[in-house]
Amino acid sequence: MQQTAILIVGHGSRNQKSNQEFRDLVDRFALSRNELVQCAFIELAEPGLTEALDAAAKKARQILVIPLALFGAGHVKNDIPLAIAEAQLQHPDTIFKAAGPMGLLPELVKLAAKRGREVLDRDQSRRKRTEDHMAVLVIGRGSSDPDANSDFYKVARMIGEALGDPFLVPCFVGVTGPDLESSLELAVKTRPKRIVVIPYFLLQGILISRIHDQVAEFGKAWPHISMSVASYLGVDSLMCDALSFQAEGLVGGKLALPCVSCKYRVPTENVVKNFSALKALLWSQRHRFTHSQAVDHVHSHKPIKKHIFVCTNIDCAEKGGFRTLQSIRRKIKDAGLQNEVAVTRTSCMGKCGEGPAVVVYPDGIWYRELTSEFAGPLITEHIQNDRLFSERVDHIMN
Ligand code: FES
Repeated sequence: MQQTAILIVGHGSRNQKSNQEFRDLVDRFALSRNELVQCAFIELAEPGLTEALDAAAKKARQILVIPLALFGAGHVKNDIPLAIAEAQLQHPDTIFKAAGPMGLLPELVKLAAKRGREVLDRDQSRRKRTEDHMAVLVIGRGSSDPDANSDFYKVARMIGEALGDPFLVPCFVGVTGPDLESSLELAVKTRPKRIVVIPYFLLQGILISRIHDQVAEFGKAWPHISMSVASYLGVDSLMCDALSFQAEGLVGGKLALPCVSCKYRVPTENVVKNFSALKALLWSQRHRFTHSQAVDHVHSHKPIKKHIFVCTNIDCAEKGGFRTLQSIRRKIKDAGLQNEVAVTRTSCMGKCGEGPAVVVYPDGIWYRELTSEFAGPLITEHIQNDRLFSERVDHIMN
């Protein structure tokens, strides 16, 4: 039995080259360590995190879990802690320690600046360098988590300073704005001779190709401006240094997940719908239902998000089950959610005497005595705001 194992956790991708690049990085990192180093994926590739934690716990007394993640969003805040909590139940004598995200580490800022300089050096032989009139776009994936997006702005600024403080625009590929095209438009207004786009991405993938395509397309309208896309971070000794920093921090008892500004802990204007630990738990539970680990997605790209079951069997019917069913359907329609939320009547759900019984999946929340006047609050609270309609909760499935 080893004293310590390090588990590097990647997201996983349908792009096998990206998964292989992750494995290559882990192999390279392992060369610099004495501990057992293994990899795991949150989804879409194998080994899955649950299996990897179980396997590691059988080989070592202490497991250091390091997410290969730039910023703190759902996977780092929810999925990994939940998997570790489950592994801890299975292996009570094993010590599990998890690191936070890596995006603000100086090693990665340095690496991104290096990628930017590589583009400038590559073009130096072809034309005069024009950094004096250069705009830099640092582009990230984008997240629905304000923690992640605000940390990205900070890191973009640090990359800009490392490159000599050019005109700088942080932007995102998706989920949130500003997007790449509007940021390129903003940049050309400053009349630069050159625009360098630096993707702040760990590994290759479809979004990197999309960035290249968009920049090439945009550049056709501005032939007098040199537009280049730098490499993503990729496998590099600086990346290994960052992983080592995380591992050492865990050994030293540091690197707890920062929670001062976590959206689950601190309700801020416009993001209150994310507030509460229960929301975090629901996110994880739902995510595990909808994105099974290590298998391809089998659903269409726009699957329903929730399924509400309403009991209309004899006992519940006597207590108003049909009116509840109709009211829920009407509220769903009024909210324009009929393509996202299915409502189905059921036979007896074993809650006679406590009806009308209503269950919301995939959250696994059972409601009792949910008569029609509570249909509105149920839809508003649970479906639209992702909070429990606590007044009528019967129980929560494990
Ligand atoms: S009749 Fe509804 S739970 Fe039994």
